Amino acid sequence: MYQRLIRPLLFQLQAETAHEQALSMLSSAAKTRFAGPMLHNFFGSPLLETSLKHIHFPNPLGLAAGMDKNAVALPAWENLGFGFCEIGGITRHAQPGNPRPRMFRDPETQAIINRMGFNNDGLNAVVDRLIEWKTRNQWPSAPVAVNLGKSKITPLEEAPSEYAQLLKAFWPYGDFFIVNVSSPNTPDLRKLQQTEALRQVLQALDQAQTELETTHSDLPKRPIFLKIDPDMPSELLDEVIDVVQESSLEGIVATNTTVARPESEEPSKTPEVYAETGGLSGYPLKERSTHLIRHIYARTKGKLTIIGVGGIFNAQDAWEKICAGASLVQAYSGMVYEGPGMARAIVEGLCDQVELHGLSSIGEAVGKELDYIHSD
Ligand code: FNR
Repeated sequence: MYQRLIRPLLFQLQAETAHEQALSMLSSAAKTRFAGPMLHNFFGSPLLETSLKHIHFPNPLGLAAGMDKNAVALPAWENLGFGFCEIGGITRHAQPGNPRPRMFRDPETQAIINRMGFNNDGLNAVVDRLIEWKTRNQWPSAPVAVNLGKSKITPLEEAPSEYAQLLKAFWPYGDFFIVNVSSPNTPDLRKLQQTEALRQVLQALDQAQTELETTHSDLPKRPIFLKIDPDMPSELLDEVIDVVQESSLEGIVATNTTVARPESEEPSKTPEVYAETGGLSGYPLKERSTHLIRHIYARTKGKLTIIGVGGIFNAQDAWEKICAGASLVQAYSGMVYEGPGMARAIVEGLCDQVELHGLSSIGEAVGKELDYIHSD
């Protein structure tokens, strides 16, 4: 129904307008009291349950950062089947982002290009919204991750302290945190992935985390992840992996959007929107992101936890990333093309794979390079 009826209508709108309308509907549904009993969480099966430290995930599929930057639809994601959601990117200062239009679809290649530029309500407003969800007793039962970004006005050398500040503000609310040094749309942000700059960011977070664990000794430990870009040369990637391993971070989110564009055999057929500046996501990112996951898993011998994201549209895509080494996976662009039923379909498909392979839980598939079994 989504693809035949709703998507054609939504796709007549500019990509960001369609996104805003969909989000506003979800937000209203989440807030409407009478809708509450009609909305049920859908997590699949106990075979998909997994855990990270003390955090329990009803299934390994999460909503990726960028979809609900300001946590306006926080309780809705688990109703759609997601086993966790990531809000943000959130910056210290509220910021409007880049001028519109700044989000573009290419239905032919199932891609999105965006140069949003961390448009978000800022730390204070988002913390207030999280408190509101708690007060309304509508906090999700599934884990919530918070994506931390750098404000455009913050100089790069002050980035470590901005990330630490964000961590402190969101500590009581987020189950885990993702440090975003890989968005292509904030000038120079990716320079923070260079070894020395990265060490400084991770040291600041390490220190803040130690302090927070003391001051909030009543709260469980909150793992931190680094989200990386898919465009860095392989030597830098290995340095990043090593720096993360030396730090107190839990793992890596692979990957953010790419600034590369797939090469076309017939340049005249290259989609027009590929000329837009910004990060590319969706189907064309899939193989690159899976390749990086496989590499990180092999280099670390599975010791870093990997969250795999990039081009997941269906259960097979998610299964491939899990088998390449991702303990958790996420999707954004797939929702735009497949619609709100996507998460549920993926969860059901993952459950089938666990059963067809005779595994006792999804965790047994991580890094195992198992085939995807087509059951019909
Ligand atoms: C994103 N993404 C993103 N990532 C991040 O760490 N912080 C952010 O604020 C955003 N914002 C954002 C906005 C838009 C419009 C898009 C399309 C994407 C990246 C996203 O979380 C994910 O890493 C990539 O989109 C790849 O996954 P998909 O879309 O191929 O499933």
